[in-house]
Amino acid sequence: MKKISILCLLALLFAASCSTERKENRIDLNIPWKFMPGDDLSWAAPAFDDSKWKTILPDKIWEEQGYEKLDGYAWYRTRFFLPSSLKEKALMKDSLQILLGKIDDCDQVFLNGELIGQNTAVMAAKSPPDENFIKAQGVWNTDRRYVLHVNDQRIGWDKENVIAVRVYDQNGAGGMFSKPFAVSMVSFADYVKFDMTKNTFVFRNDNLLSRKFIIENRSGKDDFNGTLSLKVSSYSNGAVLFHKDTAINLSRNSKTETGFTFQPDPANPVFAEITFRENHTGQCVTEKMELPYILTPSVKKEPRINGAKVFGVRPWSPFLFKVAATGEPPLKYLAKDIPEGLTIDSVSGLITGALKKKGEHMVTLTVKNASGSATRKLKIVCGNTISLTPPLGWNSWNCWGLSVSDEKIRQSADAMRSSGLIDHGWTYINIDDGWEYKHDKDGKILTNSKFPNMYALCSYVHSLGLKIGIYSSPGTKTCGGYEGSYTFEEKDAEAYAAWGIDYLKYDWCSYGRLYPNPTKSQMKYPYQVMRKAIRKVNRDIHYSLCQYGMGDVWEWGAEVDGNSWRTTGDIEDTWRSLSGIGYSQRKCSSFSAPGRWNDPDMLVVGWVGWGPDLHYTRLTPGEQYTHITLWSLLSSPLLIGCDLSQLDPFTLSLLTNDEVLAVNQDPLGKQATLAKSNESYALWIKELEDGSRAIGLFNLTEQPLNIPVDLKELKLKGRWNMRDLWRQTDLGQVEQHFEMKVLPHGANLIRIVK
Ligand code: GLA
Repeated sequence: MKKISILCLLALLFAASCSTERKENRIDLNIPWKFMPGDDLSWAAPAFDDSKWKTILPDKIWEEQGYEKLDGYAWYRTRFFLPSSLKEKALMKDSLQILLGKIDDCDQVFLNGELIGQNTAVMAAKSPPDENFIKAQGVWNTDRRYVLHVNDQRIGWDKENVIAVRVYDQNGAGGMFSKPFAVSMVSFADYVKFDMTKNTFVFRNDNLLSRKFIIENRSGKDDFNGTLSLKVSSYSNGAVLFHKDTAINLSRNSKTETGFTFQPDPANPVFAEITFRENHTGQCVTEKMELPYILTPSVKKEPRINGAKVFGVRPWSPFLFKVAATGEPPLKYLAKDIPEGLTIDSVSGLITGALKKKGEHMVTLTVKNASGSATRKLKIVCGNTISLTPPLGWNSWNCWGLSVSDEKIRQSADAMRSSGLIDHGWTYINIDDGWEYKHDKDGKILTNSKFPNMYALCSYVHSLGLKIGIYSSPGTKTCGGYEGSYTFEEKDAEAYAAWGIDYLKYDWCSYGRLYPNPTKSQMKYPYQVMRKAIRKVNRDIHYSLCQYGMGDVWEWGAEVDGNSWRTTGDIEDTWRSLSGIGYSQRKCSSFSAPGRWNDPDMLVVGWVGWGPDLHYTRLTPGEQYTHITLWSLLSSPLLIGCDLSQLDPFTLSLLTNDEVLAVNQDPLGKQATLAKSNESYALWIKELEDGSRAIGLFNLTEQPLNIPVDLKELKLKGRWNMRDLWRQTDLGQVEQHFEMKVLPHGANLIRIVK
């Protein structure tokens, strides 16, 4: 009897276990390669003597390995022995693949002197490759995987093989990077893939969370039958809370949409493991997925005033400030001690007018409804500096890219209001690249057909109580190849003012062609020219410098009167990009001040895609908590990058936590500093105006982690009251030390106050 049940158990275990390709059945190429800047096709030949070439690691761009200024062509070479046992031991014996991570910008790959592939036709078409084409195709950011049939004559089985990679790069990062670098047989996992980006979680009215996803069989010749198993487990104790197996057939070249439903509990975050196990070979593919957990408490019926507590304006500039407040409508807005020249609309909460003289005014705002009232001070500073707190808004680039249009801007503005974001202080609707046409004979900038009437569009956005931003470049062309402002700066600034623009993102782009290796004063110059132009017009225009951090812009951005400056290249919705950018911001911590903000680029939560096709952010929920927590601590401009008309409850919860946003909007305007970091975690601390501190606890690992905080290490003495800002709950007193569990790549944000 006992024997039988053990046998049954073994059979079950066997049925459920997966046969996997042996790890050692691949040749690791993440080793030093030979490297030579320049271009010579004879470098492809296997017999070429590269012994005098320097070595380089393939998983880091060449700028990080001693070639800071290198643009143009360069070659990588490596040798490896290819035993036929590699194919004999493999479960699938058809094809060999060469995996070369990613390559910035584009490449051609030669095996034993013969071309085996290139990531696009760019390299072959033109020498040097066309810059706009490279950019438009995003070729640098695609996985390099070159596949050959095992009988391909170019492969040398049981011999030494030589791979030579010809790379072309211009501007920014260059060369091979990312992972993996290897030679292996194409396996089952290369054919069957989960695609999680076409759908997202749906929070249903019955409190269930449902999720669809796609399983793709990319094989052109094999159907795969098997079991799809879904397991949901708790992060806190690993307990399996839900398990379901379903038989499923994946025919060749097919995409199957399927999904699951689960009852979430925000207090107990969980992750799902989805496995497809193929019946015949027992091979599996698995995807681990974190389920979203909403921490932000829902909005209360009673009024609450949110948003900036201090607002800067210049004398005589049109004044527009929306008092942001939540609570059950209708809300009534009142302002006591409002200075002469300004009035508040009691229904919309809009303060408008103009101030004639420099000076400071402390206004008492009150918002009332049937359930109660809330009162808060607003300090209005009429002087030279605007944007006294980081701008909160939306920008079209990370979702719509160059496909932005008048209609999409109106939809976004409508959604900013209808989603309630406006009630939490979100203000700007910014048009990025893609609106421009050309300058006419009088030097007037014309819009393209996607923007039939810019004045009407700006007026519409203003009528909703929002502000509007625009984009240009000091070069002749923008990064997207549209008309820039070069030599038309004054005319353009006049046009912006006439339309009613409140924010200008000014992007270096093709100005780099004038000065490929600019000195610091050449970097500053175009920003001074446009600064002069926008200061001539009677409008407060937030001046956002975008030149990716060149020449340590944070050291001189204020000198050219920038209100914010990008400190990095473009962000993407990946952990590599987010953590790389976010955690490198200590370089500029001390340069942040009211009206002078470091900008680590826009947010990548929600439906993004750089237009026109969107996908749901590839960041896990924990990574998204890190994104908003860190950007708030960094006093960064918060510019939402997703389609606002498709905000899901989780994304909305990330963007509407008033206690978290208050850390970003704190009037002191200091940026958090890195207090402690090691391989597993980082602690960032930000001093706030009232003497309290916001502390971010960041888990850098892929496992839940208990993060210890020693107040002495943070140079804090005495007893403090602790509050969890995401959950908006008090945590009691702390004197020396506390510890918190933080989810993989996730963050907690607490505030301690004496
Ligand atoms: C650059 C900027 C982006 C975006 C595009 C528009 O890449 O860094 O934020 O504005 O140009 O073309």
